[in-house]
Amino acid sequence: MLLLLLLWQIQDEDISASSQWSESTAARYGRLDFEEGDGAWCPEITVEPDSLKEFLQIDLRSLHFITLVGTQGRHAGGIGNEFSQMYKIKYSRDGSRWISWRNRQGKQVIEGNRNAYDIVLKDLEPPIIARYVRFMPVTDHSMNVCMRVELYGCEWLDGLVSYNAPVGEQMSLPALPAYFNDSVYDGAVIHRCVCGLGQLTDGVCGLDDFTHSHVYNVWPGYDYVGWTNESFPSGYVEIMFEFDRTRNFTTMKVHCNNMPSRHAKAFRQVVCYFRSEADWEAAPLAFGPAEDEENPGARFVTVNLANRMASAIKCQFHFADAWMLFSEITFQSVKRCLPLSPRLPSPEDDPTHKIDDSNTRILIGCLVAIIFILVVIIVIILWRQVWQKMLEKRGPGRIPSPSLITCFPRCVPASASAAASKSTAAAAAAAVQDGAPHYAEADIVNLQGVTGGNTYAIPALAMDLLSGKDVAVEEFPRKMLTFKEKLGEGQFGEVHLCEAEGMQEFMNKEFLFDIPEDQPVLVAVKMLRSDADKNARNDFLKEIKIMSRLKDPNIIRLLAVCIYSDPLCMITEYMENGDLNQFLSRHEPEGQLAVLSNAPTVSFNSLCYMAAQIASGMKYLSSLNFVHRDLATRNCLVGKNYTIKIADFGMSRNLYSGDYYRIQGRAVLPIRWMSWESILLGKFTTASDAWAFGVTLWEILNFCKEQPYSQLTDEQVIENTGEFFRDQKRQIYLPQPVLCPDSLYKIMLSCWRRNTKERPSFQEIHRALLEMQP
Ligand code: ADE
Repeated sequence: MLLLLLLWQIQDEDISASSQWSESTAARYGRLDFEEGDGAWCPEITVEPDSLKEFLQIDLRSLHFITLVGTQGRHAGGIGNEFSQMYKIKYSRDGSRWISWRNRQGKQVIEGNRNAYDIVLKDLEPPIIARYVRFMPVTDHSMNVCMRVELYGCEWLDGLVSYNAPVGEQMSLPALPAYFNDSVYDGAVIHRCVCGLGQLTDGVCGLDDFTHSHVYNVWPGYDYVGWTNESFPSGYVEIMFEFDRTRNFTTMKVHCNNMPSRHAKAFRQVVCYFRSEADWEAAPLAFGPAEDEENPGARFVTVNLANRMASAIKCQFHFADAWMLFSEITFQSVKRCLPLSPRLPSPEDDPTHKIDDSNTRILIGCLVAIIFILVVIIVIILWRQVWQKMLEKRGPGRIPSPSLITCFPRCVPASASAAASKSTAAAAAAAVQDGAPHYAEADIVNLQGVTGGNTYAIPALAMDLLSGKDVAVEEFPRKMLTFKEKLGEGQFGEVHLCEAEGMQEFMNKEFLFDIPEDQPVLVAVKMLRSDADKNARNDFLKEIKIMSRLKDPNIIRLLAVCIYSDPLCMITEYMENGDLNQFLSRHEPEGQLAVLSNAPTVSFNSLCYMAAQIASGMKYLSSLNFVHRDLATRNCLVGKNYTIKIADFGMSRNLYSGDYYRIQGRAVLPIRWMSWESILLGKFTTASDAWAFGVTLWEILNFCKEQPYSQLTDEQVIENTGEFFRDQKRQIYLPQPVLCPDSLYKIMLSCWRRNTKERPSFQEIHRALLEMQP
């Protein structure tokens, strides 16, 4: 399950710096992709090698688990050219003790930017648990640097601020010894590890065989912290956990290795003591996990903490065998419920009225809470409307990201590769800055189609060009339309198949060659619901404006409109074979199987022809800098003789609801078609359309018989996106379809290249597909 993901809006006052060069390069301008002020945070003086005096600091207001950071330099629209080639990170949980971040090999310096424009993302391995984070530019010679930064993570709900444990030990093995030390512990290590967090909270669970690790280039035993009973005559290892505040604990989960062949087992019993105020409570809690001889693998053992209140817990883990190896320990506690208006009991309180009185207080509290929530919702709605208006007025230029931290939590159990996982949908959610029910990048105009929330996205610049001109399509007399059947339905209206009399006058010559002059023409009529609100109406009109300018044989053509009266209608060409997904699902590849089943067939050449038409339509869209953002077979229509036209039906058609992933009421994402940068960073470009084209091609070659990554859950697809980002050869690619020759699979693979610049343009894809046809 994904965690609840929040877009963190960092207030300006929570971003500070050691110094600033001028008011217009103050800390608050240090947000990634934010072009306000002079375009970045710049310290007052040049940065000297090894000085480490300058920093940009973010106060996250509470503890966070931070897994990824991004940096960017200052270009200020071509005037500036300052960036930081290297930097270090310091963090603090309490604001007083600052810790230098090091990677798993102990290196502190992180490679930064190579130019003033590009965003460079760095995976934090190990992740940071902190409230305060400082970015410190590092240089090898005296130079001016400026930085913009972003943090990705999520709130650290465990509340654990440190654990204190005996130093891990070493096990002799036939080849190399296994070291069970806590190698990323960020506190002091003398005889015990004190005042820090480390491998037990780094989100990486050890493998079944402790000699192997998820992490590259490390020693056997790396993922585990472990001890032998020979060093503990008491028979147990004591670990103390300190928390940010007194909490009501429900469970503790301990990820233990279990390799009987190496005498490593989970604990036999654990005895926990609780400290809520100054003193340890006398009554401990004892728990003995059930023996599980059948399952030899590493596992989480869940300890019921029985709602004990504590700000510190001390647990004695009793050995069950010679070795005890832990890789993660997590705590679950009840969410804090603050009283709305705390009131101390007074001696005047009449005990006979106590129950009534407290009920009244609860009732009043609830009412106040409801009123407060309603007020907040109203303020947010009003604020959004104002914001939207401002954006419309702004024209070109990026929407400044109000966030400096985007929720990007790491795995919990399972594997380190889950790392980027939960993260990601988060980052996409983070891109939902305008409250629109879809994911959106900066310079895009979002259109809601009647069949759903369809979203052709165009650069604000292109939108400006359009807005200056009239709609290039004519009004059609509504009475000349005769309803035939309903083709589809969505949140905002319906699509009907209609006969249109006299439509020939409204059609370009290229459409007319096979239509008799005096016969009605079949058209698809998209109709806005009569009860649609003002926003839906405006979006419908905007869609008309944009669609009226799209003129390409492989893009669905807007023929005419009915906008002088309600309901608003768009009249488009009718494609008699429906959408490509359903069309191919009904067909089989040519061959014996088809002969036996008597199913209609489509030849390989026809598949290539259809794919080439999609590439051609996309070539046209990309030439206008249009980004489709939802290219898939479900959004392509099929006419006579395998003609294909790209459309965008939005995301609310029930038939395809399984293709969209919903983020907690925020965004609807076609994650199986989306590039890693669209999911992780909310970036939608022609290169991400190329990625989706690769997936569309894969669907076509599979005759749409299988959903992409059908064996993966949505969460696993998002985890896999993290692997594409990491690029450590652990990402899973869609497999080569049976029918697909190597040359075609190579095109797909090129569309899924990590580096957006290395993906082919639609021109290249189109040419390659044409060459494939006889
Ligand atoms: N369904 C929605 N729009 C359509 C169109 N233009 N042709 C055929 N089916 C459709």
